[in-house]
Amino acid sequence: QSVAIVLGTRPEIIKFAPIIDACERRGVRCLIVHTGQHYSPDLDSVFFEELELPEPEYNLGVGSGSHGIQTGTMLASIESVFLDEAPDVVLVQGDTNSTLAGALAAVKLGIPVGHVEAGLRSYDREMPEEINRVVVDHVADFCFPPTPDAADILESEHVPGSIHVTGNTIVDAIHSYRDVAARKSDVLDRLDLEPGEFYLLTAHRAENVDDAERFASMLDGVARVVESTGREAIYPIHPRSKARLVEFDIEVPEGIRVVEPLPFLDFLRLESTTALAFTDSGGVQEETCILGVPCVTMRYSTERPETVHVGANCVAGTDAVDIVDAAEIMLGKDGSWPIPFGDGDAAERIMDALAVPDAKSEVAQ
Ligand code: UD1
Ligand code: UDP
Repeated sequence: QSVAIVLGTRPEIIKFAPIIDACERRGVRCLIVHTGQHYSPDLDSVFFEELELPEPEYNLGVGSGSHGIQTGTMLASIESVFLDEAPDVVLVQGDTNSTLAGALAAVKLGIPVGHVEAGLRSYDREMPEEINRVVVDHVADFCFPPTPDAADILESEHVPGSIHVTGNTIVDAIHSYRDVAARKSDVLDRLDLEPGEFYLLTAHRAENVDDAERFASMLDGVARVVESTGREAIYPIHPRSKARLVEFDIEVPEGIRVVEPLPFLDFLRLESTTALAFTDSGGVQEETCILGVPCVTMRYSTERPETVHVGANCVAGTDAVDIVDAAEIMLGKDGSWPIPFGDGDAAERIMDALAVPDAKSEVAQ
């Protein structure tokens, strides 16, 4: 049996790492097809190196572009790889344009496709990711929702594929790398930070940073918290956001330190030791929840409501005053909430649901 994995962006590489490892453990062929949606080394190759993943067999080099051009170019290129390789099953993860193109290419060739992290809904159709989630869930043969609530959403939408609650593979990844990060990462020293005495900030969503007023208001909100509490905020900046700062001529307020995007172990170390995270990222909402760190989400909706229900996350919007209010509430949390994303065996559960044989243990028997 061969499993093809289509990925293209930073979060897909990180969340697929446990599945790639599980394929290796079981001795099944895993064909990695990289669309090239992310290509800058600090959004791409650094994660393959750090997480010790095999190089993709194909890198389609699609790069950046409008949604139509980017997704369409991927679709054509992925189709041609699948025609040559005829994988038995295709896996896609999350909600990016790479996810959409991988799923469509597979389903149109009649190759079974599994969607990892299925059933997430923000119910905000202005997010390009929301369209991708809905389409992929409805063409997938196997849906792997991380939580029972996500499975309920899929059932209520009568998706045609089978539904298997697996947990989120990010729990697997954090279990594997949290201690490694604590041992190996010197990011706190490098940035001269004391645990618990700084904030972590990420902001890259198109609907936020492509809007000059919103982007400035988010930075203003974080800067006000910085000023009133005397703790600096560290902002590893996504290239989209970096470009917008220049384009909109936005000056980053004092107390927010912009740094380049960080490798996963450094980022995980900062997430584990920050007093609070400000973010609009999907993955950061999950990871802070898993790590017992409070999070303020600078958006008007979340497709990860479980993080809010357990008390780990507050969806504040993008107004500066609302961000300040949310931070005040979240700074009072002690981090002792239950983790809603499973026990860290999501990758093995996905392999089991796909009936991927454990070739290695069969040989051993
Ligand atoms: C994409 C995903 C988003 C995900 C994010 C993870 C879609 C629609 N969006 O957003 O869901 O949260 O990845 O980080 O799929 N750029 C570089 N180097 C790169 C990649 C991009 O400089 O390696 C710059 C380019 O200027 C590009 C811009 O970032 O135009 C946006 O890249 P794109 O891939 O379109 O979307 P992301 O914002 O990265
Ligand atoms: N991440 C990282 N370095 C950074 C910022 C984020 O390694 O400088 C990781 C983070 O730990 C998470 C993933 O990237 O696993 C989240 O990616 P992003 O926020 O770009 O995408 P989203 O989750 O919103 O789709």
